[in-house]
Amino acid sequence: MNRYFKAKIRENLPLNNSNNLLITEPLDPVTEPKPGQFYMITVGNSYDPLLKRPFSYLRTTPDTIQFLFTVRGRGTALMKALRKGSVVDIIGPLGTGYPLPGTRCTPVVVAGGTGIISLFSLIETLTRRFHVLYGAKNRDDLLLLHELERLGNKLVVCTDDCSFGKEGMVDAVLRELLADHESLSTSCTLYACGPKPMLKAVSGIAAERGLRGYMSLEENMACGFGACLGCAVKTIRGYQRVCREGPVFPIRDIVWEQDY
Ligand SMILES: Cc1cc2nc3c(=O)[nH]c(=O)nc-3n(C[C@H](O)[C@H](O)[C@H](O)COP(=O)(O)OP(=O)(O)OC[C@H]3O[C@@H](n4cnc5c(N)ncnc54)[C@H](O)[C@@H]3O)c2cc1C
Ligand code: FES
Repeated sequence: MNRYFKAKIRENLPLNNSNNLLITEPLDPVTEPKPGQFYMITVGNSYDPLLKRPFSYLRTTPDTIQFLFTVRGRGTALMKALRKGSVVDIIGPLGTGYPLPGTRCTPVVVAGGTGIISLFSLIETLTRRFHVLYGAKNRDDLLLLHELERLGNKLVVCTDDCSFGKEGMVDAVLRELLADHESLSTSCTLYACGPKPMLKAVSGIAAERGLRGYMSLEENMACGFGACLGCAVKTIRGYQRVCREGPVFPIRDIVWEQDY
């Protein structure tokens, strides 16, 4: 099925100062997405900026695809101004999704900041007991808390400034969880998405303990479907495109060279 489609903005609801829920209604037939896949969305109604921006989908309903976005720069500021009823061009679903855990594995989901958006559709899909560890800078940056409380049967939230939940970084919370639940070391599948320093720390923990899992990388993207090579990252199989071979990669595959 064609992955280019037009969609009408049904709602563009501010959740707080910097985050909006964008509910789009596809006007053309669309392909059902898998958790972890993403879409390239035109940010406004003109050709400037020309490039679409990549966004994970939050959820789908029979007639909508929903996104949650944080205003970061020019493109997302324009998206915030999109009015109900306007029509945008979208490409997707793109990229690989999160492979589902094996039958004997306990999923441990580790989210940092807006990484929770990519992981949310996976969490909604999981049918067995799982853990969600979610860290953000402060209380205002925590997204989807009520939904997570409803869905995550083991949810631990932490903030850097201790304004909500435990104090500290989410990788420290992961270390604690693994120390408290020895059996997880042999039976868990990690799923992670968040800022690079967090992902690098989670990779380190996985390597130390021989844990398996997957992480979704968020790189700046130009084309979104493998043509420009602008999103390549170093892996044990050489450079791979985040938009095409990713955004979800096995944790062990990523080669972290830089200090973040
Ligand atoms: C696969 C994927 C899924 C994503 N899903 C979501 C999502 O569900 N919700 C959401 O809010 N954001 C998501 N992002 C990030 C989103 O694409 C960027 O925030 C957006 O492109 C910024 O565009 P801008 O024009 O507002 O900012 P720009 O003016 O282009 O940049 C503003 C700042 O954001 C940084 N930035 C730009 N693009 C990215 C990026 N792709 N990743 C990280 N930092 C970036 C820049 O370095 C700069 O500091 C995702 C990114 C990827 C690659
Ligand atoms: S964004 Fe062009 S190859 Fe990935």
